[in-house]
Amino acid sequence: MPTLNWIGKKAVINHDRDVPFHLLQEVPELSFGDRNSGNLLIQGDNLIALKSLLPYYAGRVKCIYIDPPYNTGNEGWVYNDNVNDPEIKAWINQVVGKEAEDLSRHDKWLCMMYPRLKLLRDFLRKDGSIWISIDDNEVTALRMVLDEIFGRNCFIACNVWQKRYSRENREAIGDVHEYVLTYCRDIDLFKNTRNKVPLTSEQAKVYKNPNNDPKGRWRTIPITAQAGHATPNQFYTIVTPSGRRFDPPAGNCWRFTEARYNELVSEGRIYFGKDGNSQPTTIRYLSEVPGVTPWTWWPSDEVGHTDSAKKEIIALFGENNLFDTPKPETLLQRIIHIASNPGDIVMDSYLGSGTTCAVAHKMGRQYIGIEMGEHCETHCAVRLKKVVEGEQGGVSKEQDWKGGGGFRYYRLGNPLFDEYGNVFGEVSFSDLAKHVFFSETGSPLPDGSDVSTPFIGAYEGRAIYLLYNGILKDRNPRNGNVLTREVLSYLPPFDGPKVVYGTGCRLSAMTLRAAQIEFKQIPYELKR
Ligand SMILES: C[S@@+](CC[C@H](N)C(=O)[O-])C[C@H]1O[C@@H](n2cnc3c(N)ncnc32)[C@H](O)[C@@H]1O
Repeated sequence: MPTLNWIGKKAVINHDRDVPFHLLQEVPELSFGDRNSGNLLIQGDNLIALKSLLPYYAGRVKCIYIDPPYNTGNEGWVYNDNVNDPEIKAWINQVVGKEAEDLSRHDKWLCMMYPRLKLLRDFLRKDGSIWISIDDNEVTALRMVLDEIFGRNCFIACNVWQKRYSRENREAIGDVHEYVLTYCRDIDLFKNTRNKVPLTSEQAKVYKNPNNDPKGRWRTIPITAQAGHATPNQFYTIVTPSGRRFDPPAGNCWRFTEARYNELVSEGRIYFGKDGNSQPTTIRYLSEVPGVTPWTWWPSDEVGHTDSAKKEIIALFGENNLFDTPKPETLLQRIIHIASNPGDIVMDSYLGSGTTCAVAHKMGRQYIGIEMGEHCETHCAVRLKKVVEGEQGGVSKEQDWKGGGGFRYYRLGNPLFDEYGNVFGEVSFSDLAKHVFFSETGSPLPDGSDVSTPFIGAYEGRAIYLLYNGILKDRNPRNGNVLTREVLSYLPPFDGPKVVYGTGCRLSAMTLRAAQIEFKQIPYELKR
C-alpha cells in the first residue's frame, strides 16, 4: 500500500508510546449539575489528555468526531487554525528535534496529527467509528495517513458537507463544501450497527393518506421482482376484488410466496387501487420506515451550514464572543445519530465551542470533550451548563430536550511518574490501580471495580494485585507495599496465576512459583 512520507515522520510515528501519563484533576467549581453522569470536559493538550484517558476508556468509545485545525495558513484566528500555536510549536521542536527547523507547515501539521490519530484509534470500540471534518487543504494527506493508521479496508466514506449555499464571487470557482472522512475499526460491525437517517420532508412527501387510514401516511411498493432466483411458489395468479386476474409480467415473479401473499391480504397490506381493480402493490406506512441508508452527500438544508452555526453561537454567547469555525448542531446530530445510540460514549478531542458535547448531551449520549484553549472554560463549560439547564437552541426542540444531567471539568495534573521514574506521591491507589490494570491487560479496569483492596481485578484467568500507598494499612511492614509472607496471607485469594505489583518482595523464587505469583517491582516494571 502506498504510504505518505514527510520530514519528522520518523520522530512521531511511535511518539504516542512515549507520551507520559498524567493525572486528571477535577476543578469542582467548573463542574456542573449531576457530576456522576459520566460526562467529561477536559482542558489541555489532547495528546496528553488522550494518553491519560486511555487506561479508563480504551476500546469503549462508540463515536469519535474531530474538527482539527485545517492548516489553512491563516494566522490570528480565535481557533489556532495553524501549526504556529506556541504550545504546538514547542512540542514539535521538542519531539522532532533539529529536523524541525526544515519543516513546512504541512510537515508540522502531519507531525501534530499522527500521534493523536493513533491514540484516538485505541479508544474506539470494535463497532466504533471516527468522523473527521477537513477541507481541501489537507484532505489528501489526511486520507493517506488514516489509511495507514486504520487500514484501507476500514475506510467508510468521504462525505461531502455543503457548508455554504450562496456563491462567493471573489473565488475562481466557489468553494461551498468540505469533507467529513469516516473510518472504523471493523467495516462489517460498523455496517451492522450504524443507524439509518430519517427521511427528509421531500422524501416523505410520497407518503400520503387519501383514505384517512388510521395508521397514517402510506405509499405503495410494487410486488414484482426479477424471476432470476424465484422459487415455483412465487408464480401464481392474483385475483383482484373486482375479479381482474394478474399473473407476474414476463421475466418477473411475485416478491412473496402465495402463502405470504394471502397473509398480507388478510392483514390489509395489499392495495388494488381505489376501485379494487389495479395490479396489486403492498402498503408501506411512513411510521414503519426506519429511515434511509446514509449517503455521502450532505446538503446544507439537511444538516445546516456555517451561517446557521454562527447564529447558534450568537444565540449562546452574544455578538462579542464569536468563533470563526463552529459547526452547526444539525451536522453533529447527523453524525452522532448514524454512529451511536443513547448511552454510548461520544468523544471530541478538538472541541472548539463545544458543539459535539452539547449535541451528544441532548441526544442522551455520554461524552468526553477535550479543548486546549481558554475557551474550554469561557465557552464549552458555559455552553454545556446551559444545555444542562435546558437551553432550547440548535437541535433541542427536535430532540425534545428538557435539560438535566451534568459534567465534570478537569485540567491536566502532574505526570504519574516523576523525572526519575518514581510514582508521584500524590497519586492515589485507585489512579495507580487503573494504570497498572491497563498496562498489564491493555484494557481499562471495568466500571464499578472495587479498588479498596490490593486485588484490582482478574483478566483472562490471571489476577492482578497492587501493593501501594498502604492499601493494607498499618498491619504490615512498610505499609504493606512489600510482598512478604504476612502480606501474602492478607491478599484476597485467587485460584490461578497472579501478578503482584509492589515496591519490594521478600519471598523466595520457590515460594513465588508455588503460589503462582509473578512479582513486578514498582516503579521499574511499570509501563510508563
Ligand atoms: C476548528 S475548531 C473546532 C470547532 C468545533 N467543531 C465547534 O463546533 O466549535 C478546533 C479546535 O481545536 C483546538 N485544538 C487545536 N489543537 C489542539 C490540541 N492539541 N489539543 C486540544 N485542542 C486543540 C483549538 O483550540 C480549536 O478550538
